[in-house]
Amino acid sequence: MRHFRFITAAFTAAALTLPLVATSASADPSRGHQSSPHAHARYDRLRQAAPDGFVVGTAVAGGGHHLEQDYPDPFTSDKEYRKVLGQQFSSVSPENQMKWEYIHPEQNRYNFAMADDIVDFAERHHQVVRGHTLLWHSQNPTWLEEGDFSDTELRTILRKHIKTVVGRYAGRIQQWDVANEIFDEAGNLRTEENIWIRELGPGIIADAFRWAHEADPKAKLFFNDYGVEDVNAKTDAYYELIKGLRKQRVPVHGFSSQAHLSTRYGFPGGLEDSLRRFDELGLETAITELDVRMDLPESGEPTGAQLRQQADYYQQALSACLAVDGCDSFTIWGFTDKYSWVPVFFEGEGSATVMTGEFVRKPAFFALRSALQEARKH
Ligand code: G3I
Repeated sequence: MRHFRFITAAFTAAALTLPLVATSASADPSRGHQSSPHAHARYDRLRQAAPDGFVVGTAVAGGGHHLEQDYPDPFTSDKEYRKVLGQQFSSVSPENQMKWEYIHPEQNRYNFAMADDIVDFAERHHQVVRGHTLLWHSQNPTWLEEGDFSDTELRTILRKHIKTVVGRYAGRIQQWDVANEIFDEAGNLRTEENIWIRELGPGIIADAFRWAHEADPKAKLFFNDYGVEDVNAKTDAYYELIKGLRKQRVPVHGFSSQAHLSTRYGFPGGLEDSLRRFDELGLETAITELDVRMDLPESGEPTGAQLRQQADYYQQALSACLAVDGCDSFTIWGFTDKYSWVPVFFEGEGSATVMTGEFVRKPAFFALRSALQEARKH
């Protein structure tokens, strides 16, 4: 637990006026007036700037490529990418590589290669890992979604999967997104889309947490979703569900907000209140997939004003987490536009991460770093 958490406006304003600057230390404007180029070296990187006990993470791209992006797996083949990944972050989340589709492609075959690589990389770089994800309605393999299984068989399939995957990385994963996106916008369980809830009923959710806990008693087990950056129908539904589960002593330890934001909409001002509500229920909280997309001008290049607005959103999301005692894990969904999911899923939108495709830091990077440095002082 940390005892600081006051972010002042002054440093933020400074950070938001910074231009785009190349990643080399000598080009970093926050160091331009230092007498020694090493004066602030310890706090230059996001992971070092963070207060003790607070991890700063990123999704790890890899395991295939997006439509129209003809890249080989960046995690294994992009040296610059790996360098920044190791230097800047203290937590990593496989963006796709632990999802059913990737890790369990055939009923009797697991593919652990990519997930193993990420967990090994994390250990070598003294990073923690967020496991993502075990029970979801999306990115399930065809053999599962289209298979003809009895309820008993399906239950066995899920139990074995959780025991196998969680068990394989036992002791090496800090937080698991056990259940991902189980409610819709109106706060109704996804009883049609989610194969597990549809076929086995809502009781399967508690079982998934129990099995994960048996397989790795040390991992913190989370509910994770988007559209939960406010006190709203969805967060009300989670609140009630989790309260009930904890009464029954189901091992639920955390609630996390993905935070896929867009400058089309205002910043979700209820984020801190929402996180605090779960904190007060005795849960850990986290921001797990932050990015801030925007409508790109015809040139494809964001304007200075757009980048400043984006930096402001990043900083506000971080500040909300820093302000809540049990929010000790803050993850962005990729750090370079080079591999971001956004342009593939949202036509005309992009520039959602904190670095350009050439790894040039944007104002959002500096806003995060300043906010972390400031929090460290308190
Ligand atoms: O691996 C294949 C590759 O072989 C193929 O050539 C290529 C083109 O068709 O597709 C590749 O798979 C893509 C995969 O990303 C890997 O890049 C899938 O089509 C694509 O659908 C998949 O998108 C992922 C998306 O989840 C799917 O729902 C994104 O990368 C990933 O960022 C995104 O992450 C989700 C979180 O898990 C949950 N929260 C929301 C978040 C954003 O949607």
